[in-house]
Amino acid sequence: MEIGCLEELEPGERRVALTPDVVKKLVAASHQVIVERGAGTEAGFLDSAYEAVGGQVAERGKALGAEIVATVNCPDPEQLGAGQTLVGLLRPYENPRPLAALAQRGVSSIAFELIPRTTRAQSMDALSSQATVAGYQAALEAAMACNRFFPMLTTAAGTIPPARALVLGAGVAGLQAIATCRRLGAAVSGFDVRSAAAEQVKSLGANFIEVEMTPQDAAQSGGYATELEADAERRVLAGLAGPVQAADIVISTAAIPGRPAPLLITKSMVESMRPGSVVVDVAASTGGNCELTRPGEFIEHNGVAVIGFTDFASRKPHDASQMYARNVLALLGLLNQGGEINLDDDILDAATVTHAGEVRNERVRALLA
Ligand code: NAI
Repeated sequence: MEIGCLEELEPGERRVALTPDVVKKLVAASHQVIVERGAGTEAGFLDSAYEAVGGQVAERGKALGAEIVATVNCPDPEQLGAGQTLVGLLRPYENPRPLAALAQRGVSSIAFELIPRTTRAQSMDALSSQATVAGYQAALEAAMACNRFFPMLTTAAGTIPPARALVLGAGVAGLQAIATCRRLGAAVSGFDVRSAAAEQVKSLGANFIEVEMTPQDAAQSGGYATELEADAERRVLAGLAGPVQAADIVISTAAIPGRPAPLLITKSMVESMRPGSVVVDVAASTGGNCELTRPGEFIEHNGVAVIGFTDFASRKPHDASQMYARNVLALLGLLNQGGEINLDDDILDAATVTHAGEVRNERVRALLA
């Protein structure tokens, strides 16, 4: 197969879809890899590193012309044409318009977001790999912005108690944020609406916040949480008010696929926090868990920092790209020798969002209607 790798053009995006390590493996498997000049530079992968492993570095037009095009974000659909396959984080529910254009142009596209959360698909689970980076980075942003140490310090100048961190949403990003805050020495609590989350939070040495509500059994919904009824939502907000007030750091990661992020931190909850404390809202790109979050911005409200960056994974571009490129490699391994998509494969069936001139995913079709 001929595989192209593009430079990412979205402002602030520093990741790249293929790394030299992965290009080496693709070349060893007899594929031809064309990398757009400078594609990996911002992630720390120079053109010479791709060339050293047998990749071909070329202008954008050449990489765009490959049979398979690998990206992080969806490129301009007008630049692709019939018979090509696009692989990336295509945001099918948040931004479906480009997918309609891809279908119209006869481009097949595979969205990582639609890969099922099954054991066989784990190696291609880019949502998880990028959420891992985002959770880690969120903890570091909190550590930088907070006016207190994370660990307890016993010094000649007295004893400093550990910072108190509260992590809302204990999926992949939340658990990584908990683990990172713990490694930095904070006293950590976590909360999630899924019943399975309590054990996972506790296994990382954090305290689980109990709220008076029926926890969700997410086994029925592909492992994902669903939106709360109004009564449960009120109980959650009431149950979190005290823990948020007591926290020096709140990292929120709560999300529901294809829906706006649930509101968990109101303006008055932020106003109850101590000056110098921090809210890091990892859900900012889908509206945020905090009422005061401004997506993409760092603001201060009554001395409390509210960090709503939408590029947490891109802030550790080297390792985020390493992990993402391995997800791409695993996914490409599912394609037939000539690059054809076998729709009898359950992973490809679920994740192939456009094919043969059509948008295949029902939910995306409904969003476009
Ligand atoms: P996500 O990014 O969709 O959501 C993040 C977290 O927010 C989830 O834990 C969710 O339960 C929580 N949440 C949603 N609404 C909330 C609310 N109102 N209050 C508090 N928390 C709320 O989830 P992510 O990280 O993608 O993981 C989803 C599930 O998939 C988890 O159960 C995870 O363990 C599972 N998973 C399974 C994999 C596999 O079997 N291969 C791989 C990765 C994740």
